[in-house]
Amino acid sequence: MRNNTVDLLQSHRSIRRYTDKPIPKVILEEILTSAQWAPSSHHVQAYSIIVVDDQEIKKILSEVAGSQRYVAECQVFLVFCADFYRLSLASEMWDTEFEVDEVENLLVAGVDTALAAENALIAARSYGLGGVMIGGIRNNPERVKELLGLPNYTIPIMGMCLGYPNQEPWQKPRTPKEVVVHYNQYLPKEKIIEGLELYEEISSDYYKRRTNGARQEGWTKQMAQYLSNPRRVHLKDFIKKQGFNFE
Ligand SMILES: Cc1cc2nc3c(=O)[nH]c(=O)nc-3n(C[C@H](O)[C@H](O)[C@H](O)COP(=O)(O)O)c2cc1C
Repeated sequence: MRNNTVDLLQSHRSIRRYTDKPIPKVILEEILTSAQWAPSSHHVQAYSIIVVDDQEIKKILSEVAGSQRYVAECQVFLVFCADFYRLSLASEMWDTEFEVDEVENLLVAGVDTALAAENALIAARSYGLGGVMIGGIRNNPERVKELLGLPNYTIPIMGMCLGYPNQEPWQKPRTPKEVVVHYNQYLPKEKIIEGLELYEEISSDYYKRRTNGARQEGWTKQMAQYLSNPRRVHLKDFIKKQGFNFE
């Protein structure tokens, strides 16, 4: 049984080309307020959003993100940071210990940040905007920190390009629901493999059609390649430098 919200959610696709039309301030404010209405673990609200509408800063961020042109071209670029800085100030205000060095806190902040980001994207889409999240800002978090003046206990997690869509990309097929959703018990390995084989066919077909045959591999092969090398190993040091002293 469909409704408008479900239609919006199920028509998601990342948008990487935008028209020149600016985002009205009132709409941007609604997007940001909607982000803040995401639920938050223990209500810590461990995130901040940096609104970047300065063309020079967007340009530099687009380079930092691995020359992703849409970061410079979008109307507004939002940087979502995991943020325990405000919480450190709350501890200071009450002169209490600030025990932040737990993996739990990193998960809490990461989840809070992602929930706020997705709320923002959905709110934006409800106004006819489109966007794409950008993990590329983690390529050089030091540079992002310097550029945006991020204090201790903050970690840039993802960016988000927003603008009015100037493209209508196909939707990317998802993993068959049968092997993502489990009822009461996790599925046996054979079932998962079956689903993966089916998905390899579906996704390979999608990439072949989308690229006129230039790209053949489906999702399982792409992911196997993706995970065959460590990624962004510098993050561990950056996170430590930001004040999270994990072992
Ligand atoms: C946290 C996060 C980071 C992402 N980073 C990038 C990125 O740096 N560049 C990019 O083009 N897309 C990025 N994406 C978009 C994904 O590639 C995209 O969501 C995925 O391929 C599925 O496609 P769809 O969103 O069109 O359904 C990111 C998505 C997420 C959730």
